[in-house]
Amino acid sequence: MKQQLDPWGSSNIENYNRLMKEFGITPFSGILKKVKKPSLYMKRGIIYGHIGFQEVLNAINKKEKFVMLTGLMPSGAMHMGHKLVADQMVYYQSLGAECFITVADVESYLTRNISIEDARKTAVEEYLLSYIALGLKPKNCHFYFQSNGSVGYNNLSKYVSKKITFNGVKSLYGDITPGKIVSALTQVADILHPELEEFGGPRPVVVPVGSDQHPHMLLSRDIATRMKEYGFVLPAATYNKFLPGLMGVDTKMSSSKEESFISLKDTEDIVEKKIKKYAFSGGRTTLKEHRKKGGKPEVDVSYQWLTFLEENDSKLKKIYNNYKSGKLLSGELKEILIEKLNKFLKDHQRKREKARKIVDKFLE
Ligand code: TRP
Repeated sequence: MKQQLDPWGSSNIENYNRLMKEFGITPFSGILKKVKKPSLYMKRGIIYGHIGFQEVLNAINKKEKFVMLTGLMPSGAMHMGHKLVADQMVYYQSLGAECFITVADVESYLTRNISIEDARKTAVEEYLLSYIALGLKPKNCHFYFQSNGSVGYNNLSKYVSKKITFNGVKSLYGDITPGKIVSALTQVADILHPELEEFGGPRPVVVPVGSDQHPHMLLSRDIATRMKEYGFVLPAATYNKFLPGLMGVDTKMSSSKEESFISLKDTEDIVEKKIKKYAFSGGRTTLKEHRKKGGKPEVDVSYQWLTFLEENDSKLKKIYNNYKSGKLLSGELKEILIEKLNKFLKDHQRKREKARKIVDKFLE
């Protein structure tokens, strides 16, 4: 069956290699060596693909101006999966990027029926505070709401419609509604507007996202090519793998399914309870069998989460080997993850409270 990429669906990726072939995503491995200070996610292959990243890399390596732009869907709790994109914002900011972060409140209103008011609250309370706690700085950072963009941005979101056909949109998105079309064009304006003269003019832009956003990137690049008079540098994207949901390595984390995620506000007890109860185990049914045959790290959610969280390669390798050989039991592996998560969350939650003092700097 043909794989589908639906930004408004719950498409789960089974095979990243096939996905890249079918959708014109370039493997990140080919460019990794040229990145001077690769992030952990780049080194681990969690950022597995890109489109047009070379242009951004040139700017980084030559210390020229570039932009990092991405968006958040304010539809519920910020969870560990969302942390992936937040870490990338902080990474690019540390390399000198001017950052644009959009709150997709118009999109969440049109496609998920979330009120603009609720969306705004969620964006600040769940997301922005955590971004600051993760290291995002107010300098050179524009945090804005789709419902409250500048005149230039708003006009761009309409002008871009001139460059597409209805069939083009249908072939990119499949089933589409007027609300989805407006959301898609708003996102195109999000991605292209930093290159308007009033926002700094044409320069490379990188959009770190999950693979489901790829159709929006294709649309943005297509429209940018046709808007010759603006001189846009084609926006680039990097694609990260999803952190799997707790219920299994091929399940998706979703803010509407409590048993699928760990939120950045979860307490120690909740973390322990959720991991013990829900995290799918690659262990064997009996102790004897486990010692003899060893665990299956490939399907073990706790192990897979550690590949995103444990920065020390040799520690991770040791866990892998011990689990695979049967020396480490499933319960013990879960304990390692619980400890890692709770240590991170304790510190994070303390930083979130401190972040309240400077949150207004992002909202002016
Ligand atoms: N559609 C994105 C999501 O569902 C949110 C978003 C809006 C976005 N504008 C964007 C993401 C621009 C990246 C770039 O999460």
